[in-house]
Amino acid sequence: MKTQTLGTSDLQVSQIRYGAMSIGRSYDNTPLTDSVRQSALQILHTALDAGINFFDHADIYCNGKSEKAFADLWKGAQHLRQQIYLQTKCGILFGPPHRFDFSYEHIIASVKGSLKRLQTDYIDVLLLHRPDPLVEPEEVAQAFDELKHSGKVRWFGVSNHTAAQLDFLQKYLNQPIVTNQVEFNLVHTQMLDEGILFNQNNSRITRNEGVIEYCRLHNITLQAWAPLANGWITGNPQQNAPEHFSATAELVAHMAKEKDVHPEAIIIAWILRHPAHIQPLPGTINSKRLLAAFEAEHVNLTREEWFSLFTAGRGETMP
Ligand SMILES: NC(=O)c1ccc[n+]([C@@H]2O[C@H](COP(=O)([O-])OP(=O)(O)OC[C@H]3O[C@@H](n4cnc5c(N)ncnc54)[C@H](OP(=O)(O)O)[C@@H]3O)[C@@H](O)[C@H]2O)c1
Repeated sequence: MKTQTLGTSDLQVSQIRYGAMSIGRSYDNTPLTDSVRQSALQILHTALDAGINFFDHADIYCNGKSEKAFADLWKGAQHLRQQIYLQTKCGILFGPPHRFDFSYEHIIASVKGSLKRLQTDYIDVLLLHRPDPLVEPEEVAQAFDELKHSGKVRWFGVSNHTAAQLDFLQKYLNQPIVTNQVEFNLVHTQMLDEGILFNQNNSRITRNEGVIEYCRLHNITLQAWAPLANGWITGNPQQNAPEHFSATAELVAHMAKEKDVHPEAIIIAWILRHPAHIQPLPGTINSKRLLAAFEAEHVNLTREEWFSLFTAGRGETMP
């Protein structure tokens, strides 16, 4: 598996990562069963064997069960902790009410919980999960300083942040923001749309203030969440999907056949082809599908193929 440096950090991470959100299976308070633990280990080893060295978590995934299930990896194999990078997130509380919290107290408490569930002394990368409208950046800075100085967290980043939010936070932080994790896949292209639709009379534009350009300028690695688009265009059609999804699925299947790979490889390769070196983190718990996604490493899309997919996924031609 090819590797690249994560932002301005010293971490040499695999180009494709694994999103461990679903390995705990359910969002309830029932304990992890042996069979859930076993299947979690199986998918994690599939990823490790393929050369994945970076695993994404959040304190809230499956109510903490995904982090707990992950810790089984160390049992009898403590050396693995030094060989992989762990990323987790804080800042969302399911509630009620469902809310965001970037307060000093919440960040510190969340990391404490993650360290305990993951059974480790340190987290390689900590992300703020979703922008908190009540954020006090001085409090975030205080929490990050404490976590960095105590050795509990090595590097910091964010998720779902716009360029302006990145700029704003960075002004107060003593550590660099090394990554921004955003939703990005063939049928969720808002991050690109703003760039191509500037100055057009079009309602599709969502304001992210050129987040791709901002991240490239400041050497902040973008990570793509939901890179498999939940399977909507690779064999798991969404109910009441927009009309163009089925044509996109057909194009993806056709290209996959032509290149002798699985459809998952085409949509992951579409992300990898972007020059921002966006890092996809597929979250399937199906080993075959994960291996299908990893085939993307060997798929080279031409400019024409990339634009055909982009056009199909958007359901609209270029302006
Ligand atoms: N920062 C954030 O706000 C945020 C939000 C969501 C997720 N994430 C991260 O991103 C990672 C990936 O996201 P994700 O898991 O939501 O999306 P994903 O990787 O795009 O899709 C995985 C999901 O789609 C299903 N799927 C894919 N192809 C399928 C097919 N052909 N047939 C049936 N089902 C199919 C998978 O089921 P199977 O498991 O059965 O294959 C799985 O439930 C997560 O693990 C998490 O680490 C971050």
